[in-house]
Amino acid sequence: MKKNVQLNDSFSGIFDFNLIQKNLASYHEKLHQKFKDKTLGFYDLPDQSSFLELLPSKLNFIRDHFETMIVLGIGGSALGPKALIEALCGIYQRRVLVVDFLDPFAFTQLLETINLKTSLFTFISKSGETTETLSQLFVLYPLLKKKLGATWKKHFLIITDPEKGFLRQFANEQALLSFEVPPNVGGRFSVLSSVGLVPAYFAGIPLEELLKGAQQMRQACSLCNLEKNPAYRLASLLYLFYHLQKRNIVVLMPYAESLFSIAGWFAQLWGESIGKKMSGSTPVAASGPKDQHSQLQLYMEGPQDKLLVFLEVEKFKQEIKIENSEIIPDRFQYLTQHSFAKVMNVELQATQQALAEAERPSLKIMLPEQNASYLGGLFFLLEMSTAFAGELFQVNAFDQPGVEAGKKITREILSQ
Ligand code: PA5
Repeated sequence: MKKNVQLNDSFSGIFDFNLIQKNLASYHEKLHQKFKDKTLGFYDLPDQSSFLELLPSKLNFIRDHFETMIVLGIGGSALGPKALIEALCGIYQRRVLVVDFLDPFAFTQLLETINLKTSLFTFISKSGETTETLSQLFVLYPLLKKKLGATWKKHFLIITDPEKGFLRQFANEQALLSFEVPPNVGGRFSVLSSVGLVPAYFAGIPLEELLKGAQQMRQACSLCNLEKNPAYRLASLLYLFYHLQKRNIVVLMPYAESLFSIAGWFAQLWGESIGKKMSGSTPVAASGPKDQHSQLQLYMEGPQDKLLVFLEVEKFKQEIKIENSEIIPDRFQYLTQHSFAKVMNVELQATQQALAEAERPSLKIMLPEQNASYLGGLFFLLEMSTAFAGELFQVNAFDQPGVEAGKKITREILSQ
């Protein structure tokens, strides 16, 4: 059997899964009906061979010509590309910079550090109407026009709806290079669409592998079986701990700094999808082993309201070993001959054991290797878990009515 991203938990005897099992067929059918009638597009994103074929002709010149891609966007239009690129290209890479803020100090600093002549400004917004992204555009457009002169258009790339919204209109009117976000793919479910794939291609991530991993995971996640479908099992555990034990906080804690942004991406995915109608667990992003020295005390002895989900990488892209040397005293000899990965993974194991001894539940998602294929699998697993959780929590996982009110008030105040 081929390896895959795996869910590792020991809760089989603890909960009565029958609570979910008895309605499983109906939840499954409802969800798959939405895939069949194409209202939920994220399910089809692993099959984009024709989109991948398009990329070299549209992007190779740009990829070779520009040194840096500056991604301007927010929410799903930024968190997905950031998580994907950091996981596979590292947190210190400078090839793709994701700018999802309006902090004028940070924005000015960014403009002072980059070379405009070798930068490609990629505006991503599914709606093409988002306040923060358009504010960034309205500042950069005159600035780049002034500094780059007639060549400014070559420095713009737009990723947005095929027809609607201001960004699409802008791209068409100015004849800018652009890509489409499929209308049936929601922002927070868009990492495997053009939103994530175009920056990832620019960064050199092997997209076939990424999508193959997602396809493989989709196969496992299509089974109407609570034991064998990892997405259904993960969603069920998150739901049962919430529903039966009032664990209303779910902490996603990767033991890999380069995967930390995945926890941020998941926080949006879970929070915006499930937090509705007075229910839903609150997602928290944590980072191991760093947060053992920060949040762990609370998780160990604070309120019994959390479920911890760890993320472990078995084989990292790189290996660092602690060799013995004359400065290492006897009491630190236990560290010698071990790799950083080994130290971290043992710390994870020890933390999980200590949590269990304190009767604090946790589970683990395991990535056999830090590569594009398993990353594709992980993104798909978490998306599918969230979609299925929508059925369990009985909410529409694909809208976000709660964020509209603040947007409306912002517009009203700024218009006065
Ligand atoms: O999930 C969503 O749809 C939202 O959170 C969006 O990602 C976010 O509001 C940004 O929207 P847009 O991509 O339209 O600029």
